[in-house]
Amino acid sequence: MTREIPALVFDAYGTLFDVHSVTRLAESLFPGKGAAISAAWRTKQLEYTWLRTIMGSYEDFARVTRSALEWTLESLAVDAGEDAHRALLEEYRRLAPFPEVPAMLERLAGGRALAILSNGHPEMLDAVVDHAGLRPHFRGGVLSVHPARRFKPDPAVYRIAEEALGVPRALMGFVSSNGWDAAGAKAFGFRAFWVNRSGASVERLGVRPDAIVKDLGELESLLA
Ligand code: LAC
Repeated sequence: MTREIPALVFDAYGTLFDVHSVTRLAESLFPGKGAAISAAWRTKQLEYTWLRTIMGSYEDFARVTRSALEWTLESLAVDAGEDAHRALLEEYRRLAPFPEVPAMLERLAGGRALAILSNGHPEMLDAVVDHAGLRPHFRGGVLSVHPARRFKPDPAVYRIAEEALGVPRALMGFVSSNGWDAAGAKAFGFRAFWVNRSGASVERLGVRPDAIVKDLGELESLLA
């Protein structure tokens, strides 16, 4: 199976980086509300990406993330000042990679090009990748949806990776922990690997991922 997949493209947030690593700071700033803030912030952030794409009113992911945080804090009746806002947003630049990620990327990179394709604005994406020291693994590039001015799962976004890597879509592996993103990639024509970290149900979107794994370790075994 290894030789069949010359390139692997990874989603970033939730797949390589744990978006809920913001919980610790949120909890220390607003005791008892950290987990609720983190969960609502992520949900609203994704909703805004979908809505802005449908509305044709693109705003980059850094701004979407800030708007989602503002909505979240207000809806949870958290009275946060400028400093707390800034500190929480800064956390997005140093999200923790999931524990197995660095070692598994090293192994998966053997003999194939790895890349990232993310909703993240290029600047915030570069920051989080460099903070975790993962840049050397991605010789295929750290790609953002930003040039398409729309978010996943719009097909125009997946095309960015296909064109950048120059690999026919049927040979490209796309790895995401977001079930809806794996579905979008599969609908586009990629080989989709869903990293089901949370034991979620398969999305009913008319396509199924080619494989479901629990983490990148299982993906590595599958492709070895
Ligand atoms: C990303 C979002 C989907 O990294 O988490 O593109």
